[in-house]
Amino acid sequence: MFAIETENLTKYYGKHRGVVSLFLQVKEGQIFGYLGPNGAGKTTTIRLLMNLIGPMDGNAKVLGLDLNKSGLEARRHIGYLPGELSLYEDLTGKELLNYLGNLGRSVDWALVAYLSELFECDLTRPIRELSRGNKQKIGLIQAFMHKPDLLILDEPTIGLDPLMQHAFLELLERVKKEGRTVFLSSHNLGEVEKSCDEIGIIREGKLVAVESVESLKQKFLKHIEVEFKSAPPLEAFAGITNIIDIKPKGTVFEFVIQGELDPMLKRIAEFEVENLTSHDISLEDIFMDYYSGEMENA
Ligand SMILES: Nc1ncnc2c1ncn2[C@@H]1O[C@H](COP(=O)(O)OP(=O)(O)O)[C@@H](O)[C@H]1O
Ligand SMILES: [Mg+2]
Repeated sequence: MFAIETENLTKYYGKHRGVVSLFLQVKEGQIFGYLGPNGAGKTTTIRLLMNLIGPMDGNAKVLGLDLNKSGLEARRHIGYLPGELSLYEDLTGKELLNYLGNLGRSVDWALVAYLSELFECDLTRPIRELSRGNKQKIGLIQAFMHKPDLLILDEPTIGLDPLMQHAFLELLERVKKEGRTVFLSSHNLGEVEKSCDEIGIIREGKLVAVESVESLKQKFLKHIEVEFKSAPPLEAFAGITNIIDIKPKGTVFEFVIQGELDPMLKRIAEFEVENLTSHDISLEDIFMDYYSGEMENA
């Protein structure tokens, strides 16, 4: 079952492209990262999913509910962090959460206590006095405090320092263990690489790739540098199909590997190895490949 399913979802702002013909599927229990640069259409997608704006074409189902018919009902089961937070500035964090809590959904106050401790968040100060990062924390608390089945978070870690970003990852782990679903947007690769099961890449309003983080990494290349006691013959590595390239420099061989490492490792182990270093290609490089257009629709 899908927590989010869109069909041909399309939104223009007048003549300006918002998102174009999105077919998006997010499985239940997944953490889905929605990745793209500024202006790509992330916030537009999220507002469509929250039924805050209507599509010009297409449709979306959230938690099995058709947004055309049951948008309000769907929203009750979603924890939402908007991209531009506008909180009630005169209230303190506590007062705001109390107010939101009284809007009809039950709040787990023990959970609020846990969250405010996790994020080292002072709920007694008026929101207007808070830094951007501290406002963001209150935004996060209100999104998570109902224990929603689905969280839709628009650039959740913006303004959070590294320690708090780590706390956020911890929270995602917890939500995932409970089998709940998270859809988060980001332009930060490191973040989605660490936290997401699957990522969708949006570019100029179009979804250009959806792939599991695992298989993205599989698809792409690793560099392994091996220093041999004495240089083996190049033919020794013939027939290992996932060796894409070998650059021998004296006794040091640089291998470029796609996918499985094991066959290559077994082969090099037949020779005396003095040293071995490997570096994974980061998701950032992978992402850049998508953006350079080479891997588009691959
Ligand atoms: N209210 C609006 N009026 C006109 N254009 C808009 C509006 N909101 C967004 N856009 C345009 O839609 C495109 C997608 O924006 P947005 O969804 O905010 O992207 P992202 O969140 O990925 O940065 C951008 O080109 C942006 O300028
Ligand atoms: Mg945005």
